[in-house]
Amino acid sequence: MNRSSKVTIATLRTRKLQRRKIPVLTCYDYSTARIMAEVGVDVILVGDTYGEVCLGHASTLPVKLDHLLTVTEAVRRGAPDAFLIGDMPFLTYQVTPEEAVRNAGRFMAEAGCDCVKIEVDRRLAGTVEAMSRAAIPVMAHLGLGPQSVHRLGGYKAQGRQAGEAMAIIEDAAMMEQAGAVALLLEAVPDEVGRIVTERATLPVIGCVAGPDCDGTVVVLHDMLGYSAGHPPRSVKVYAQLHDVLSGAMARYVEDVTAGRFPEAGGGVAMEPAEADRLRRLAGACEGGIDCAAAAS
Ligand code: KIV
Repeated sequence: MNRSSKVTIATLRTRKLQRRKIPVLTCYDYSTARIMAEVGVDVILVGDTYGEVCLGHASTLPVKLDHLLTVTEAVRRGAPDAFLIGDMPFLTYQVTPEEAVRNAGRFMAEAGCDCVKIEVDRRLAGTVEAMSRAAIPVMAHLGLGPQSVHRLGGYKAQGRQAGEAMAIIEDAAMMEQAGAVALLLEAVPDEVGRIVTERATLPVIGCVAGPDCDGTVVVLHDMLGYSAGHPPRSVKVYAQLHDVLSGAMARYVEDVTAGRFPEAGGGVAMEPAEADRLRRLAGACEGGIDCAAAAS
């Protein structure tokens, strides 16, 4: 098997050193993953935003481990060579390091991930260490952690005060020391993105963290114009998928209701002789004659 095109953590480290930016997208299904593989999106996050954009929950908290593992496996089938990041759902890594290792191991062994992502601050450095000891590559997600929405009192940008910003910068260094292989910085000022990226030897992926991070991640539905409601202000929208899909669905409804689809002859074909026989047979049956006898 030739896997020379497989993207690994070593590939991402090289891209950081060569200052080649790393585009990352979220993905939640096989067909979309195939398109990503075709166009060269080779770093993919199966985010727990799945719970919001695909399941319609108001937050990421209700996402279940087994469910997200199934989704992640499907994405892996669509993009076998991508660097695949599995996002660990709420309470699958916060309770004990042992549980974190066991659950993260499932993303690696069952879903074929290259790395797992967890939302952290310095209090979870021991968990990152335990996972790293178990040979599980960890992407440490710092800044706004959406799983902490209730503790934070909303989806609020982090690190806007200098002291708070320094805490994030220190946390990033602690995560590197604890053995994380990559960092993700969400909703922090550009200055924090720049300082963390300059200091870290690890690839740093920003999600609203300014232009200086090594790469950027956005939620697929937001950049495709496919989200319910308005995408966040910071997201560049590359398509109006909502309009494209709703237009196509409306035309389908019109065609079916007007009798334009399905068209006669467009489906399962029957030999003319068999069609003739069927017409005779159906006519005979209608007349009350025994169908089996008429067919013989
Ligand atoms: O779950 C997710 O999609 C994420 C991104 C917002 C970074 O964590």
